[in-house]
Amino acid sequence: MALKIGRGASAPPFLVMDVIAAANARQAALPPGGPAVIRMEVGQPGTGAPAGALAAAAAALRSGEPLGYTEALGRRSLRERIVAHYRDWYGLVVPIERVAITVGASGGFPLAFLAAFDPGDRVALAAPFYPPYVNILTALGIQPVILEAGPDTRFQPTVAMLERLDPPPDGLVVASPCNPAGTMLHPEELAAIAAWCDGAGVRLISDEIYHGLHYTSAVATAAALSQHAVVVNSFSKYFSMTGWRVGWLVLPEDLVRPVECLAQNLFISAPHISQVAAEAAFDCGAELQANVARYRRARELLLRGLPEAGFARLSPAEGAFYLFADIGERSNDSVQFCARMLAEVGIASTPGVDFDRRRGNRFIRFSYCGPEADMAEAAERLRSWR
Ligand SMILES: Cc1ncc(COP(=O)(O)O)c(C=O)c1O
Repeated sequence: MALKIGRGASAPPFLVMDVIAAANARQAALPPGGPAVIRMEVGQPGTGAPAGALAAAAAALRSGEPLGYTEALGRRSLRERIVAHYRDWYGLVVPIERVAITVGASGGFPLAFLAAFDPGDRVALAAPFYPPYVNILTALGIQPVILEAGPDTRFQPTVAMLERLDPPPDGLVVASPCNPAGTMLHPEELAAIAAWCDGAGVRLISDEIYHGLHYTSAVATAAALSQHAVVVNSFSKYFSMTGWRVGWLVLPEDLVRPVECLAQNLFISAPHISQVAAEAAFDCGAELQANVARYRRARELLLRGLPEAGFARLSPAEGAFYLFADIGERSNDSVQFCARMLAEVGIASTPGVDFDRRRGNRFIRFSYCGPEADMAEAAERLRSWR
């Protein structure tokens, strides 16, 4: 007898994970001592947590503290550091009651979506997008409404696109800097979108996980632009702590208690030891800024090297550590193009179909958060590959 299988079971894979597996297999098949696969598919810093965060975690482990559950909204001392972070980076006073610690940004999405939306609601977002937005919304029975964005709007949504939606959506997800295009909503653009959302009664969810990694423009937080927006952030990128699984939300007042109750039921709390480490990461500015300087150098190198290697149409690379390349003149099958690049020059990259189901075959994403020497070598290998 076949038993019922739920809606969530049809969530598509996050394809980059399959690319990572293919790159691992390719590396394992290479003769030892030969040139290694260059990893430009992964979106995680190779650096690990900053030294101060590791030291704090080690001290907590040695102390014999029980490190049990924390309150669902997180350790008060970490929430206080996040309040200070908003004051220091954005000159903004965020009441501590509105800060919730989560299991990475990933853990923040279901909390935010469940608190803000109902099954059947419509939530808009620009394509290309970070695939889990659509996959989580769909698993929750919420309908994603895709706004196809291109180079003319730096792959970002605009108020004009939102105004064309009839009826207006129930929510909007934005990301700045974004994954995969590495582009931003400039402060005045985010302000216009936040004002439109407030005027139209649309709940804005702003993914700010790549704040701190921006190279050409100032960055604005939606927390300063709307009392109704939900801000999602994390220690995974700027703070270089992916595997520690800790992030945060800045919530509007009406969603604080709903998110607290959902968090109590779904996760109880983010990992205690990670919260201790995250708190100390705020004192590691010099080390973290050195990482940013490294990304900046890799970015400049690739912005020079990739066009010379035949990747002339690149996204503006304003932030994060991604370059989105239009390969339309070389292929109409980005999965096959990436597979061939891996097989022939040993460079792993991510096919655009992960991020844009209709147009993704003409794009690939390069990530430049790997070692600087690898980025130089990648440009070199690609120059001799056509
Ligand atoms: C845009 C974006 N949001 C959220 C996440 C998830 O991050 P976390 O490790 O905090 O769950 C990622 C991870 O790559 C991302 O690129």
